[in-house]
Amino acid sequence: MLTNEQMTVITSTVPVLEEHGVKVTTRFYRQLFNDHPELLNLFNHVNQETGDQPKALAYSLYQAASNIENLESILPVVKQIAHKHRSIGVKEEHYPIVGEYLLQAMQDELGLNSDDPVIEAWGAAYGIIADVFIQVEKEMYEQAGWDGFREMKVSSKVRESDEIYSFYFSPADGGPLPLFQPGQYISIEASIPGEKYRHIRQYSLSDAPGKNHYRISVKRENNPEGIVSNYLHDQVNAEDSIYISAPAGDFTVKEAHSPLILISGGVGVTPLLSMYKRVRESQPERPVTFVQAVRNENVHGLAEEIHVLKEDSHIRHIVCYEEPENIDAGDFKGRLTPEALASFLPQEQAEYYLCGPELFMQSVYDMLKDLGISSNQISYEFFGPTMTLVENK
Ligand SMILES: Cc1cc2nc3c(=O)[nH]c(=O)nc-3n(C[C@H](O)[C@H](O)[C@H](O)COP(=O)(O)OP(=O)(O)OC[C@H]3O[C@@H](n4cnc5c(N)ncnc54)[C@H](O)[C@@H]3O)c2cc1C
Ligand code: HEM
Repeated sequence: MLTNEQMTVITSTVPVLEEHGVKVTTRFYRQLFNDHPELLNLFNHVNQETGDQPKALAYSLYQAASNIENLESILPVVKQIAHKHRSIGVKEEHYPIVGEYLLQAMQDELGLNSDDPVIEAWGAAYGIIADVFIQVEKEMYEQAGWDGFREMKVSSKVRESDEIYSFYFSPADGGPLPLFQPGQYISIEASIPGEKYRHIRQYSLSDAPGKNHYRISVKRENNPEGIVSNYLHDQVNAEDSIYISAPAGDFTVKEAHSPLILISGGVGVTPLLSMYKRVRESQPERPVTFVQAVRNENVHGLAEEIHVLKEDSHIRHIVCYEEPENIDAGDFKGRLTPEALASFLPQEQAEYYLCGPELFMQSVYDMLKDLGISSNQISYEFFGPTMTLVENK
């Protein structure tokens, strides 16, 4: 429990955190990895270099501090982060060390002593926030399909486009595969020859649940070469082993009856395709509009799969090519405009799911808000540290 004085200190330092949060978390990670390089096996190094992870951590601490008197209200955010933590293998014993380095970074950045009331209050607050995470994660570990990273055998590797390969895999021990919720992801733990640390990355499951395989569809990242996507494309083939953690994530479809609108940019199609396939099986009458935006035909992965299903009268599948090779290709050419988007959408109240690059999602989100769609009808997934789309409206 925080004392009343500590509560006042935390509340009064929220603006400080808003201003200095990213500097504190950047310093925190630098000191943490310097003294505990083994933790580089857990963290995505690129998210450190780009500053995305320090930003995500600072933002979540800011949110927690702003709601310190009512942490219940940020439980959905905590759960989202906890899914990622569980999927990567963050454990209860990691929390004290993170707390120690966070407080040290706060002291150093703000020029305070360890017995300063601000540091003492933050120490107590970190303990409370960490306990909430530990409790939520404990339940997630108990409910997970398996513990840690499980060996899978790749049964096939399929080229989907110039940039995307799908990998089908099932347990190496021949055991059963638990069901997952469409929209969920797995983490791959890659031990890449020549790399000092192992690298963990998330990939959405792109097929429907209930099959004897899981499938991921991976885009090759270039300029500079992405570590894990290039490893998977170039070095992992049928019959090879990969190690994955059990499905995680809360970007999942509610079983409502209202029309379902799926809007993807590029490889962001993967979780939406899984949702789409599942809804076709479990709710065949439910109207679905799938707006798929891609650069051109050459990078249009998994197109065939949606084309086959397109013959259903409840489905609208709209393909938008930003720069088509063939002038007749697709249903819409160029960047999605508000008018075009409006013309694809139903009049009724619907549920919207977005996945794609940040700028794409922000622009679609703004257009939907302009069309009068409320933010609680819109869910989205980031293919990187979770951010919040800006409420411009
Ligand atoms: C929930 C979730 C689901 C996901 N689902 C999918 C999916 O279904 N399919 C899919 O393909 N991906 C998916 N991703 C993304 C995936 O996890 C990886 O981030 C992606 O494959 C890139 O990993 P990488 O190791 O190849 O690239 P990294 O080495 O991590 O590099 C990431 C990007 O940063 C660039 N980069 C590298 N170094 C720097 C630097 N110093 N400065 C600036 N930029 C740099 C690279 O060019 C690359 O584009 C998902 C991510 C999340 C969080
Ligand atoms: C209260 C304490 C903590 C908070 C508020 C916090 C917050 C966050 C946030 C906001 C993210 C980004 C989530 C996302 O990508 O969706 C994240 C990811 C992560 N966290 Fe934590 N975290 C905490 C404790 C820890 C601990 C104890 C560890 C273990 C060392 C840890 C390891 C990680 C890792 C490995 C990631 C993924 C990072 C990446 O992809 O680079 N976190 N955390």
